[in-house]
Amino acid sequence: MDAIKTLLTRKSSPRLQEPSPSSEELELIFQAALRAPDHAALKPWKFIKVSGKGREKLAEVLLDAVNKINPIKASQDRDKILSAPYRAPLIIIVVASTQDHEIVPEIEQILSAGAAAQNILIAAHSMGYSGIWRTGLVSFNKEVSRSFDLADNDIVIGYLYIGTSEKEMTLPSNSNINDFVINWD
Ligand SMILES: Cc1cc2nc3c(=O)[nH]c(=O)nc-3n(C[C@H](O)[C@H](O)[C@H](O)COP(=O)(O)O)c2cc1C
Repeated sequence: MDAIKTLLTRKSSPRLQEPSPSSEELELIFQAALRAPDHAALKPWKFIKVSGKGREKLAEVLLDAVNKINPIKASQDRDKILSAPYRAPLIIIVVASTQDHEIVPEIEQILSAGAAAQNILIAAHSMGYSGIWRTGLVSFNKEVSRSFDLADNDIVIGYLYIGTSEKEMTLPSNSNINDFVINWD
């Protein structure tokens, strides 16, 4: 798909089913992620690819994390949490793997990981797949990192649910760029 058309037609989809990207397509999707802007070439990213039976493991990890953050919520929302990974055949968890650096602050490294996440959504869309970026309670939290056996400097910044949209999504009408662009011509 033409790059501009891909960018202009991306639309999140909350309900996703098979087919999902093949291993060859995933290679390209991850290569696209790794082309995100990256100050000082720190490569401040990790990606956890979850599919198939891996979703059972993810469900347990999510419940464990919510239990540590808010035990009452974990008990009240147990079924919802355990079923969350089954909303898509593929989930890519994007982690900003940050490090202390004299020039590149943490925020830049997190933004880099965000750009990698967007590259993943765009690459998947260019191949005809849909996705949605979710966060919620189980992101940006050290307890979550620990539940994933990640280090404290590894920050989960999003869960990219990917697959084929269960229903056709309609694009919103275009916004007026003048509402957002300040011209200094
Ligand atoms: C960092 C980030 C976190 C998000 N977290 C959630 C979330 O937890 N749940 C959700 O329904 N949408 C979440 N969204 C919004 C959706 O990914 C999506 O952008 C939104 O539904 C609008 O759809 P669109 O992408 O087609 O414009 C998040 C978006 C971003 C950028």
